[in-house]
Amino acid sequence: MKILEKTAPMSSLRIGFRLLLVIVLTEAAIMLCYQLFGINADSTWAGIADALMLGLISSVVILRQVVRPLQQASQQNALFNTLVNNLDVGVVLTDPRRQDHPIVYVNPAFTRITGYSADEAIGNNPRFLQGDDVDEAAMQQARTAIAQEKGVRVLQRNRRKDGSAFWNDLFLNPIFDNAGQLVYWVGLINDVSDTKALEKENRRWASAMQQSDEAVCVFDATGNIEYANTSFCNNVRLSPDDIIGRSTLPFWDWESEAYISLTESLQQALSWSGRHKRYRADKTSYEALSSITPIHDEQGVLSFVAVHRDISDMVTMEAQLRQSQKMEAVGMLVGGIAHDFNNVLAGMLGNLYLVRKRLKDMPQLAERIASIEQLGYGAAGMVRQLLSFSRKDVHDVKEIDLVPFIKELTKFARVSVPENITFDCTVEGGPLIVSCDPVQLQQSLLNLIVNATHALRENNDSTGKIEVRAELATPPESLSDAGVPVSDDRKLGSEPRPWVCIAVRDNGAGMDQATQERIFEPFFTTKPSAVGTGLGLAMVKGYVEALGGVIDVETAPGAGTSMSIYLPLSEEAQVAAVEEDASLRPGRGELILLADDDFHVLEALSSILESANYRVVTTTNGMLAMAAFDEHADQLDMAIVDMIMPKASGLEAAEHMTQTRKGFPVTLMTGYDKQGSVISPQESHYPVLRKPWEIHRLNSVLSAALDSPDRVSAGNAPT
Ligand SMILES: Cc1cc2nc3c(=O)[nH]c(=O)nc-3n(C[C@H](O)[C@H](O)[C@H](O)COP(=O)(O)O)c2cc1C
Repeated sequence: MKILEKTAPMSSLRIGFRLLLVIVLTEAAIMLCYQLFGINADSTWAGIADALMLGLISSVVILRQVVRPLQQASQQNALFNTLVNNLDVGVVLTDPRRQDHPIVYVNPAFTRITGYSADEAIGNNPRFLQGDDVDEAAMQQARTAIAQEKGVRVLQRNRRKDGSAFWNDLFLNPIFDNAGQLVYWVGLINDVSDTKALEKENRRWASAMQQSDEAVCVFDATGNIEYANTSFCNNVRLSPDDIIGRSTLPFWDWESEAYISLTESLQQALSWSGRHKRYRADKTSYEALSSITPIHDEQGVLSFVAVHRDISDMVTMEAQLRQSQKMEAVGMLVGGIAHDFNNVLAGMLGNLYLVRKRLKDMPQLAERIASIEQLGYGAAGMVRQLLSFSRKDVHDVKEIDLVPFIKELTKFARVSVPENITFDCTVEGGPLIVSCDPVQLQQSLLNLIVNATHALRENNDSTGKIEVRAELATPPESLSDAGVPVSDDRKLGSEPRPWVCIAVRDNGAGMDQATQERIFEPFFTTKPSAVGTGLGLAMVKGYVEALGGVIDVETAPGAGTSMSIYLPLSEEAQVAAVEEDASLRPGRGELILLADDDFHVLEALSSILESANYRVVTTTNGMLAMAAFDEHADQLDMAIVDMIMPKASGLEAAEHMTQTRKGFPVTLMTGYDKQGSVISPQESHYPVLRKPWEIHRLNSVLSAALDSPDRVSAGNAPT
């Protein structure tokens, strides 16, 4: 190896010099002895003895000074070669005393790492390993250290012979001779690409963990937090600096079943997952879904990793879903009976009407019958309320002006409000036209007024106050933020039409948060069982939302309650006059086809019509209705058909009739469409008469069919 050869001439010179010195000194010593002992140095024996002595001493000196050191040096050399050649680390030796510090030696590991052979490397500066992606900062570090003749460690990006890149963890060390002169630089080259890749991978995992939406924390067996990601810190409202070393225990509800089952699992080093209440550092709480897993090492359990998610939003949605499922269940229940109940009422009320007509001479009895009729219509109104609550009703929607409507309503409501309560009504501006079923709006507002009265029941003095106020006002944005279902074309904020707000305010007891959250639940009531059924506000909400409106509540214990109904103002300004006519439009012998599978309805309606001079053909199902129409097509003036009938529906029968006779007037009758297959009055091509029918509604249907100027009269029909 060349490095050792460089030191050899120095040693040989010294050894040669020592040998010469020893020979000269030995010869001098022999000559001195010859003289002292009077031996003739020129004699043959003296010559032989001199030569033998010199040879012996020279041999000893050569053995000790040359042969032994050479043997040792050769052994060391072999050892050094074995060591350097077997190193996994690349070794590079540069000569700083030559131009541009060329490489003078590389070991086999260098070739393995870089792909360059010793011949290719020697004579060049090691910078030939650098590519375009060299790390300037690392290079500057190396330059400075080399200039200062100090050792340095840098991480440099290098290229192999095949062009591939690797991370070089490079140690540079200066080598000085005994005189302190810099004689070599040795570089140790380590390919740490794998470690770097691992580090990169670790960094990726760490940042994935850190940025994850799931809250992640690692805690030790005593519950002390060792790591927490950003979501975890956000959830518990602590900064990352404050969280490490804290105990996880305060974030748990210790008395909860979840906590007990968690501790059992963790004691057995088992995973646990579940839903539970968690506390933040500020003691507020939230619902979370957690999973906790022990992390094992060779010795056993080391720590635990806990992942949790704040599911407060999900819990709210679940509550909303449960609420709507409850509503759906009540709706189905009501829907199930509404149809039959309305048929019964229609039969009863029809017959009562006929009886009342016959009792003209007995006014007292007629009055009684009239009040039974009122009760019957009241019962029908209740069914309608229930349907409205479940949002399944076929509303009798019309345009009304809220100005007179609310004034009338409050006059009427004043009677039921105790006198010690101040009752005010203010209507700002006008006309305030909305599209609604006036009966249901009336019932909704009365409901709110009754609730306000109830909230003031404890006030025995005259400080109680209820105010009904109607004015133009836009719903607060918080209602749309809270996900209040506002029909798409009437979204809050984007609504081009103005809104009207009808507010009922009281200065009564108010409600706490828990009550406030439940007031729209069906069957939830704060009143004693004899006073409230609990359907009131649920129905009001259902009704208001069915109209595309929203309802807002502002309340606090002791601060009274304000319930505000927001309805979109109608585009059309026409107000329908509320008809109140008690007798049927007299007929002129017109022939009407009646179809209903309910015998009582059929009988009552046909008798009513016949009593007012109409002629009637009755049928009990859709097929028969079509057959009767085909038979009497030329003579018929109109048809009134029930929507749901056996064999064929009222709609199918109506289609058949109008296709056969264009413009033939057909009215559809409905108790309540259980299957939901039909149509609201707004969607239907045909007028809809709801059972039980009021006489003025029947009149409207008859007039629309029979008084229309472009009516195709019987006998003119195409055949
Ligand atoms: C013994 C020794 C080994 C070296 N090995 C490497 C190496 O493997 N890779 C590298 O990029 N630089 C290495 N260097 C550093 C370069 O030779 C050079 O010093 C560096 O690129 C900065 O100087 P420059 O600006 O002249 O290039 C080594 C230097 C010495 C003294």
